[in-house]
Amino acid sequence: MTALLPVYPRLDLDVVSAQGIELTTADGRTLLDLYGAHAVCPLGHAHPALHDALTRQHATLDFYSNSLRMAVQEEAAEAVLGGSAHLAHVHFVNSGTEANESAIHLARRLTGRTRIVTLAEGFHGRTLGSLSVTGLPGYRARVPVPIPEDWRGTITLGQPDLSSIDESVAAVLIESVVSLGGVYMPPDGWLEAVQARCQEVGALFILDEVQGGVGRLGRWWGHEALGTTTPDMVTLAKSLGGGFPVAALATTADIGAKVTYSELGTTFGGGPMACAMVSTTARVIREEGLMDHVLAIEARVRDGLAGIEGVEVRGKGALLGIQTPRPQGEVRTALLARDILTGASGEPDTLRLLPAYTTPLSAIDRFTAALREVLGA
Ligand SMILES: Cc1ncc(COP(=O)(O)O)c(C=O)c1O
Repeated sequence: MTALLPVYPRLDLDVVSAQGIELTTADGRTLLDLYGAHAVCPLGHAHPALHDALTRQHATLDFYSNSLRMAVQEEAAEAVLGGSAHLAHVHFVNSGTEANESAIHLARRLTGRTRIVTLAEGFHGRTLGSLSVTGLPGYRARVPVPIPEDWRGTITLGQPDLSSIDESVAAVLIESVVSLGGVYMPPDGWLEAVQARCQEVGALFILDEVQGGVGRLGRWWGHEALGTTTPDMVTLAKSLGGGFPVAALATTADIGAKVTYSELGTTFGGGPMACAMVSTTARVIREEGLMDHVLAIEARVRDGLAGIEGVEVRGKGALLGIQTPRPQGEVRTALLARDILTGASGEPDTLRLLPAYTTPLSAIDRFTAALREVLGA
């Protein structure tokens, strides 16, 4: 019996503490966390800079809502924008789905159109708006009420014919790297073609970088790591607060100029503690060269698994999918028996690595050796 609503199929592990890239369980095991707390802890667990930032902020100004000005919020917005030539404003919210809801809301209001085109293999969150534009069928099937189908149009990753993006479309919303759907990268030049088509028909181009943003792909913005697009809006969450719940919608100056008071809003979003965590996470990622390190992590995974028959590594930086000839559940269980925690994906044969950006290459070597052993390679 549990007092919790049984909505998660949890692993049989009671985690009691976490430091760096290691988890400790109630029965005294130490696990290597290559799932990075679900892509949420880019600096690993209990990073001292985050601990200091959070405790100092709590002692100084723990919370106030958006009814007052707070320097800590401005600083966090600047930290989020740092380095973008075309994104100019940030609206802080609490979760990835809420950031996507905000983007959908603005796109529909600003264009006066209703349809949002998304990827058939994409995932955008669990609240009704984000879920209604989520493509992955397993998630759509769980919606308890009929989804208004005219809200959504679908394209598939890399689809050359973009004519379904027409004048009825408010926005195209795309995961910069399809993560839950199995870790698939957009083909070179495809995101640029989608943006060009959006511009042709007056639709907005929105990237969901809830997983692929915040340096995970080797550049601060996922789209910088993937090509030359200049999205109208980008959503961020997961790694943004270094473990603290916070998400953001970033927009161009053009969109910012059209936003009116109270059309978006939240009580908790952009609270001082969340913002202190955002600024500190961004500072450490930039100062410690962690965006270069995630590319070294990727290269080490690829080298370590090179030449194994039937194994394919997909993705970029610290967002990697590993397809093997065996069901991912079996492979993950065998890795867990070797004290290595990895993540699942929507593909039956693909597991995911979403490690902390601070993960040393020696830990990656331990993983690739263990996976070779599991696969008998
Ligand atoms: C690409 C993407 N978008 C949106 C979401 C929803 O984020 P949240 O769970 O914070 O609402 C997720 C969560 O996994 C995601 O991976």
